[in-house]
Amino acid sequence: MSRIPFATTDLRAALLGQPTGGGGPIDADTVRLIRAPGRVNLIGEHTDYNLGFVLPAAIDLEVRMAVALSPDRRVELTRLETGERASFDLDQPRPRDGSWLDYIAGVAWALAEAGIPTSGIRAVIASNLPENAGLSSSAAIELAAAWALGGDAIAIANPLDVARICQRAENGYVGVMSGLMDQFASACGAEGRALLLDCRSLEWRPVRLPMSLRLVVLHSGSPRKLDGSAYNERRSQCEAAVAALREADPTIESLRDVSPALLAAEGHRLDPVVARRAEHVVAENERVEAAVIALEEGDLATVGELFAASHRSLRELYEVTSPELDALVEIATGVAGVVAARMTGAGFGGCTVNLVEPDAVDDLAAAVTRQYQSRTGLLARVLPVRAAAGAGWLETPEPA
Ligand code: GLA
Repeated sequence: MSRIPFATTDLRAALLGQPTGGGGPIDADTVRLIRAPGRVNLIGEHTDYNLGFVLPAAIDLEVRMAVALSPDRRVELTRLETGERASFDLDQPRPRDGSWLDYIAGVAWALAEAGIPTSGIRAVIASNLPENAGLSSSAAIELAAAWALGGDAIAIANPLDVARICQRAENGYVGVMSGLMDQFASACGAEGRALLLDCRSLEWRPVRLPMSLRLVVLHSGSPRKLDGSAYNERRSQCEAAVAALREADPTIESLRDVSPALLAAEGHRLDPVVARRAEHVVAENERVEAAVIALEEGDLATVGELFAASHRSLRELYEVTSPELDALVEIATGVAGVVAARMTGAGFGGCTVNLVEPDAVDDLAAAVTRQYQSRTGLLARVLPVRAAAGAGWLETPEPA
């Protein structure tokens, strides 16, 4: 991974070295540091907006911010990696412009809508999360923004409520109709744990990951093409399935309410493409529940089978994998000691997630180096990650 000036000391120094515009010099004692992680989803793909189950983990690739409150209502940000500067006024409507600032202005808008007071800030932001990789760099920016703009009100709020405000920013301001999973994982992460969320009741609990396994993300080098349209189309197809199945059973409100038996009996009501989408979602929900049991019992063979079935279903039924993601899963599956492999996130490019025995991590990296470029013409990145805590203040200075 490319080295970025990412230590908290660098962020602080960059903030204190900023030209301060009209706000006067920044008081070094008021600077606070924030971190907000990306996420990898272990299993439960395209189930969140169908009110089903997901099992993501927050990861130790993250967005960080150094923030000082300002006496005015301006939000002035600098990106540490590029030096790019951007600003807006909390009291002026700001139309979205397709830039990263949309995520921050969107959160300001959603916080105001939720009745949470916001402050003007001067901030420096940095990230070591690859963008457009399906690792939720945008959710991480949103969570960091919520902490920066909402401050202590966010620190004492229920993290799930903070996640919902950030999802509202994404849906209502940025314009992608994503589910809750990404913001949830970034808000609620726990070290060494995945997080099981029931997207209907919003109950969730941490799930211990087997200590004997490493979490390895493989980045296909092909950007995730989530312009919203293919994603929103999948959502509409799921809604179409619900509308048709309600004719058989009016109590059905989402695909979460549909059992495999009901789908088998009533699936003839659905257009064939819509039927394939529904079949994926219904079976994927069952796979999440089975995977949690298998992980907790240490039944790694079953975890591997469930990941493989999830990937197959996303390829054949939901049709969101890519040749690159399929190649990475095939390569990983051929390496002894790779317990489980599948695509992660929305699909259409991006990353795979792998559970790997510690001794096999180098073998996996070697197999990727040997086979991936000749198969796809692209370079993959091997990113060993750890399950990390959710967004919050970062007070401890650490070595660069
Ligand atoms: C994206 C969305 C999530 C979820 C996944 C697919 O990451 O932001 O809400 O729908 O795709 O599981």
